[in-house]
Amino acid sequence: MNKKLQNYKELITKKLDEYIPKGYPKSIFESMRYSVLSDGKRIRPILAIEVFKLFSENIEEIIPTACAIEMLHAQSLIHDDLPCMDNDDFRRGKPTNHKIFGEAIATLAGDALLSFAPQIIIQKTPSSVPKDKILRILDEFLQTAGAYGIIAGQVVDIESEGKEVDKATLNFIHKHKTADMFKLPVRAGAILGGATEEQIEELTIFAKKIGLAFQIADDILDETSTLETLGKTPGKDKIAGKATYPTIYGFNEAKKTLHSLIEQSCAIIEKSNYKSDLLIYITKLIETRIR
Ligand code: IPE
Ligand code: IPE
Ligand code: MG
Ligand code: MG
Ligand code: MG
Repeated sequence: MNKKLQNYKELITKKLDEYIPKGYPKSIFESMRYSVLSDGKRIRPILAIEVFKLFSENIEEIIPTACAIEMLHAQSLIHDDLPCMDNDDFRRGKPTNHKIFGEAIATLAGDALLSFAPQIIIQKTPSSVPKDKILRILDEFLQTAGAYGIIAGQVVDIESEGKEVDKATLNFIHKHKTADMFKLPVRAGAILGGATEEQIEELTIFAKKIGLAFQIADDILDETSTLETLGKTPGKDKIAGKATYPTIYGFNEAKKTLHSLIEQSCAIIEKSNYKSDLLIYITKLIETRIR
């Protein structure tokens, strides 16, 4: 693995470990730590840091936000895996949260992470960051977490199960359940780093494209990969009758769109002369990722 990516991964996991204590009641903190500290790719917090670094040096300013975004991601996974949602038994190569802690504690761990994460932004962001910037980040964070963001995507995802949905509906699902969670770290990195509004908008287009690409790749992997590689059960989308890119567009078209989105995303970074090999590396990894 890319050394810089590995270093970021370790840094983020170390910080997450520091931020979520082993508190009382024991079960809720254990459950939160179980999911957050398990072996995720950390792609969203890494994006936040790397975009921040396009504009500014002191990454201490973005670390709490980057970690809060990973907590929100973990929350969305815990709830996504619940029996009332996707009913998954494996996540990140381990039994899902509810399989270990039970449905009640898993639900509560998700809830707890949802309120814990913005508090980390408030409490841990260094005082060098102006308060109005922190407020803007919090607003974007809560927008993404809520009924206009991930939840909107998840609701339509669940309500579309077993139905024939049109392309607009499929794109709504992917935009909100997944791409919103790429938009958030990219915009947060740009805002905290001190990008201009124009740069923030340009990077938002980049984020939406890689976010959609990421879910298309996930849909493809669900049909082609294995439990050992993915760390989660494959083949479940078909059984649940999920609206996915391969089912609606066909496999070839899905792969073509994925490739084209990756090319367009790289072009945005290159055209604007953003100096980050890692950003290009991560973008390309979305197309070739195996898990
Ligand atoms: C899984 O995200 C959820 C989707 C949007 C498909 P990741 O594939 O980034 O999961 P982890 O964090 O690496 O486990
Ligand atoms: C991911 O959709 C969306 C969220 C977790 C919010 P999936 O349901 O396809 O994700 P996996 O395949 O379970 O990781
Ligand atoms: Mg799902
Ligand atoms: Mg799922
Ligand atoms: Mg999936």
